[in-house]
Amino acid sequence: MADKEIVRYPDDVLRKHAKEVSKVTPEIKKLAKEMMEIMHASGNGVGLAANQIGVLQRIFVYDDGENKGAVINPKITSAEGEQTGPEGCLSVPGLQGEVMRANQIVMKGLNADGKPVKIKAEGFFARILQHEFDHLNGTLFIDRAEPDTLEYITAEDEEAPVE
Ligand code: NI
Repeated sequence: MADKEIVRYPDDVLRKHAKEVSKVTPEIKKLAKEMMEIMHASGNGVGLAANQIGVLQRIFVYDDGENKGAVINPKITSAEGEQTGPEGCLSVPGLQGEVMRANQIVMKGLNADGKPVKIKAEGFFARILQHEFDHLNGTLFIDRAEPDTLEYITAEDEEAPVE
């Protein structure tokens, strides 16, 4: 699987609102699997939303080393606390910036098998989920980053996780 490439800023598709998935079909399941492969092939990717491969469906995948899966039609049902930390994006290569996010969230949606899931996340994992959720609404981390913290990363930071 290598026919789909990661779309890069400023491609329009990154600014579009992705559509609800009406039914978790075998195609959607396949899409989730492909997205996971593409994210892993990127090297340091910890999350990937469908917009990022040019597909406007509400689905994203994540793998931070501890938590791994796909969420379809995600909803954030609770958000508490604050955290500020560096963020990057596979669609905005080389750029990093400080972004404030909720520290703890609850997300509901469906997994790749079409089963309802309720994910309680905090810290970095919560950051990933919020970053991917934003993608599905056409929002990028550069919209939320403190402008004076946006910087091009140096070679030694290149292994920093990106979403
Ligand atoms: Ni991203």
